Amino acid sequence: MPTTILRADYAAPAFLIDTVALEFDLVPERTVVRNTMRVRRNPAAGRASNLELVGEQLEFISAAIDGHPSAAIRAHEGGLTVNDAPDAFELTITGACSPAANTTLMGLYVSGGNFCTQCEAQGFRRITWFLDRPDVMATFTVTLRADKDACPVLLSNGNLIEQGDLPDGRHYAKWEDPFKKPSYLFALVAGKLVALEERIRTGSGKEKLLQVWVKPQDLDKTGHAMDSLVRSIHWDEERFGLELDLDRFMIVAVSDFNMGAMENKGLNIFNTKCILANPETATDTDFANIESIVGHEYFHNWTGNRVTCRDWFQLSLKEGLTVFRDQEFSAAMSGGNENEAARATKRIEDVCVLRQMQFGEDAGPMAHPVRPESYVEINNFYTATVYRKGAEVVRMYQTLFGREGFRKGMDLYFQRHDGQAVTCDDFRQAMADANGRDLSQFERWYSQAGTPRVRVTTQYDEAGRRYRVTLAQDYGDASPAARATQSGPLLIPFSIGLVGQDGADMPLRLEGEREAGGTTRVLELTEAQQCFTFIDVPEKPLPSLLRDFSAPAIVEYDYGNDELAFLLAHDSDPFNRWEAGQRLATRELLTLAEQAADGRSFDMSDALVEAFRSVLTDESLSPSFRALALMLPTETYLAERMAVSDPAAAHAARRFARRRLSEALRQEWLAAYERHLTPGAYEATPEAAGHRGLKGSALMYLSELDDPADAVRLATRQYDIANNVTDRMGALSALMNAAAGKGGDFAKRPLDDFYARFEHDPLVIDKWFALQATQRGRAERPVIDVVRGLMQHPAFNLKNPNRARALIFSFCGANPAQFHAANGSGYAFWAEQVLALDAINPQVAARLARTLELWRRFTPALSAQMRAALEQVNADAKSRDVCEIVQKALA
Ligand code: ARG
Ligand code: ZN
Repeated sequence: MPTTILRADYAAPAFLIDTVALEFDLVPERTVVRNTMRVRRNPAAGRASNLELVGEQLEFISAAIDGHPSAAIRAHEGGLTVNDAPDAFELTITGACSPAANTTLMGLYVSGGNFCTQCEAQGFRRITWFLDRPDVMATFTVTLRADKDACPVLLSNGNLIEQGDLPDGRHYAKWEDPFKKPSYLFALVAGKLVALEERIRTGSGKEKLLQVWVKPQDLDKTGHAMDSLVRSIHWDEERFGLELDLDRFMIVAVSDFNMGAMENKGLNIFNTKCILANPETATDTDFANIESIVGHEYFHNWTGNRVTCRDWFQLSLKEGLTVFRDQEFSAAMSGGNENEAARATKRIEDVCVLRQMQFGEDAGPMAHPVRPESYVEINNFYTATVYRKGAEVVRMYQTLFGREGFRKGMDLYFQRHDGQAVTCDDFRQAMADANGRDLSQFERWYSQAGTPRVRVTTQYDEAGRRYRVTLAQDYGDASPAARATQSGPLLIPFSIGLVGQDGADMPLRLEGEREAGGTTRVLELTEAQQCFTFIDVPEKPLPSLLRDFSAPAIVEYDYGNDELAFLLAHDSDPFNRWEAGQRLATRELLTLAEQAADGRSFDMSDALVEAFRSVLTDESLSPSFRALALMLPTETYLAERMAVSDPAAAHAARRFARRRLSEALRQEWLAAYERHLTPGAYEATPEAAGHRGLKGSALMYLSELDDPADAVRLATRQYDIANNVTDRMGALSALMNAAAGKGGDFAKRPLDDFYARFEHDPLVIDKWFALQATQRGRAERPVIDVVRGLMQHPAFNLKNPNRARALIFSFCGANPAQFHAANGSGYAFWAEQVLALDAINPQVAARLARTLELWRRFTPALSAQMRAALEQVNADAKSRDVCEIVQKALA
């Protein structure tokens, strides 16, 4: 395996760079970059005689020290060395790169004819030679020169200080960023773009210019992003007292992008998918994602840019914190501050993502702590653990100290570290000091991998009116990778309530307390096992455990089905209401899946049907909550929880349960469908989205019926009259699902219509590909055949990550029953595509490679074939990115 980088090896840089002046002559085939840096020795570092700069895929042209050529400068494979460098000097290096040939989408590249950049984590070294590490912070001045017709717009970080014409139809623009920043926050964009603009006044009364730059044909899809930006700016002032520090803030949308978006200082660059929206082209989910990602990148301006990471092991310092901030923002925007139920909806969605993506990561060969100890390729560590578990870790400070205590910690963090590159320990220390707490044990949340498990046992003493709750923590059956990092018990904030027989919360009084107070308590579990005794408990309660999911843990408690149904109906904590239903469903489904795996016939109790009936017909619950509660855990989630993962069994179990639920509740689904129709003009509000969501679930259940006539009639009508893509896609998937069950072809016309209607809108065509890749298979037409067919479609393009994700990732990652076909056809396809992508875009290839990482957990017949596919990729892959993934999987 290529070199492993260790956190323990961190050393401060031997040199610092204070200022950088970059000059670009932008030409797609060969862009010349002249880079002038003020360099000096770092007084705080050990003495090294040579200055070592990194550079990748660069053509060296010339270099000079203080304006003179020097024999001390040597460009070489991987970088440039200045032998016996002076203590302080000006270093000028001229080189060239090839944006048009850059398919990795890291560094400077061309997307749809426009120039753009992606530098995080280590892309800047593909633009020019540098100390490309986040603890080297410099002020940047950037001059862009380009053909005026090809690139009328020239953008970079900070403020525009000069622009003008040049000979030969060229022009230039000069930008200056007043803030020191690490190289990963550098950006430039040049091309044919137009902007939606808005001027706002921030808290201090200063006027700011906001721009959302897109291709001309997309200008009508920028309103939602702009509104989201304005709301983000106001929210960050209100909630955290953080104001926009630049006069101008720009967002640019590009269609070729490896990830969601990037927080470059003053010039955020986004995947078009995370910016462009109107009702005809973006679903309710897209609208919500755009709001949260616009927020996320904007919030990075303080948590990431003003205070950045010392090294990449600290990535969660900015990502965990910023995800937490965007989650809180989205919750507030859905009406959450006042409305507990709306807030819970967002919380439930976030926890679903965590469990779906992060728990699996923790269970496999890529398991790593929130602050990893080592990496081979840092791009492989932009993970669910760093982002999502990292956000949960930040949330636990707020759970422990309350919103005010958390705010005090944030204030102290900025007071101490504004303008610095710091560590996760610095953040924890600020929280500890601001709240007068010793948080040394809390460090384990950063250093230990694996998902903690809390086993709960309870005992009611009727005579003494005492209720004893015993909490025991361990890591269950953690993977070897996770076990290697574990050293002791965590500090787990464990939120709990006690529900009485009337369904109401009991007032809580712990032993030793003078009186009862509150109905929800956060117990602090710090030992491997600990008892908490509640007194004055008038009757045997039902415990509501880990309310609002107060820690990223698995809770085990032996609830009866009737108890779960009771909590689903009564728990005052909306998260736990939903959770009770999920526990019930998971239990039933796992039983069914084991029956399927053993070749037994299905036997399902009525508990789930009755629980669903009461949720579906409970008009006091919001439609969005009901839609979430009526969703069964995914096949992937179920397969991961089986003793041996068997995707076919998980699929059969889930289908059986869905059909039972559709038959038994047919009238209720029909009634719900009609009741939640949203006639009239489209509204993008969370309430309207809730109605569409519940209507959509009802239609999907109806499409499971043996007689799909109702579903086909309703879905066909819905497709034809839809004024938004949520309804249009909902109808289309219901028709496809009904057709898969019955073998009818009533989905053909709308599927063709969908393509024709949106042919010129790539983001919607992505949905068209994804719908087909994730469809249910039919014996006579396995989905792999459909996918292979679509690979030949003229609109397919492997070089565009969104398109590759829509077709290939959707199939390999989101259609488990078809991907894990017994004949191994899915794995052969996977190996082909990982290798094809490896040659184009290693980062995207490595993401795809990860879809096989849990191979050891599968049935022997499948895992043997998965192993063979991994070995084939290991033999032929070239990139560090892919090699790290497959080698860790095989190790
Ligand atoms: N900092 C970006 C975000 O979370 C992600 C950029 C990751 N890019 C990469 N090539 N690894 O908003
Ligand atoms: Zn981020």
